[in-house]
Amino acid sequence: MKIVILDTPEQVASYGADRFADQLRHKPGSILGLATGSTPIALYEELISRVQRGVLSFALASTFNLDEYLGLESTHPQSYRYFMNEHLFRHLDIDLANTAVPDGAARDPMVACEAYEHAIQQAGGIDLQLLGIGRNGHIGFNEPSSSLASRTRVKTLTPDTVKANQRFFDEGEFQPHLSLTMGIGTIMEARHILLLATGESKAMAVRATVEGPLAARCPASILQMHPSATLVLDRAAASQLDDVAFYQYIEQENQRLPGSR
Ligand code: GLP
Repeated sequence: MKIVILDTPEQVASYGADRFADQLRHKPGSILGLATGSTPIALYEELISRVQRGVLSFALASTFNLDEYLGLESTHPQSYRYFMNEHLFRHLDIDLANTAVPDGAARDPMVACEAYEHAIQQAGGIDLQLLGIGRNGHIGFNEPSSSLASRTRVKTLTPDTVKANQRFFDEGEFQPHLSLTMGIGTIMEARHILLLATGESKAMAVRATVEGPLAARCPASILQMHPSATLVLDRAAASQLDDVAFYQYIEQENQRLPGSR
């Protein structure tokens, strides 16, 4: 794992945007895996700004989102499809037909999950997968105890995750407790993984991911097994790590190498 520790959330967003820009420069028709939550919003704003300044293009790219609430129509303001349209897609030069989010309103969710896996494979697999992390170490909606080999499927959210995401729903509004999510096995097949974490509330999950044992208890710890996973953290999210000085030393050394990012 490559651990990058930056001073501020803005620097995390900008580092992430550089990584996306590198990917699209190298392969304009990249298959990108995208995430929701508050963490990627600053990164998305930076990507939008670059597209609008004409220095970046998603015209040939395709995207697959990690997850969706089961039981919300795509037009529901709390659905992840709606979130992606509003926070990213409608501001980019991407063809909306080339953006995929699991179908939260599917008649048969199991069939929809299988079709989603198939579509990712048909597209040639994900080149760069963006991840956030839940406070309990979940990735996508793969909660603790998820099989580390799981594929896209229906998952129950933990009460803690439901509570953490309650802030987006109005009081008394229906909030799903089920989701459709790429599995951990699906995520692990991405060629490169970029996980962003900011803020102190993520510090324990980051510690378990980086320095804890590989365990279904912390789904993100599977990234220890990925050949190209980068964790970009602000100081607060890195605050519970034991070996900060070592990670910074490695990064400094890496900076000296050409094409290091
Ligand atoms: C949700 C999403 C995850 C995301 C997590 C953290 O549970 N399914 O993909 O990483 O929230 O969100 P935030 O960035 O808002 O802390």
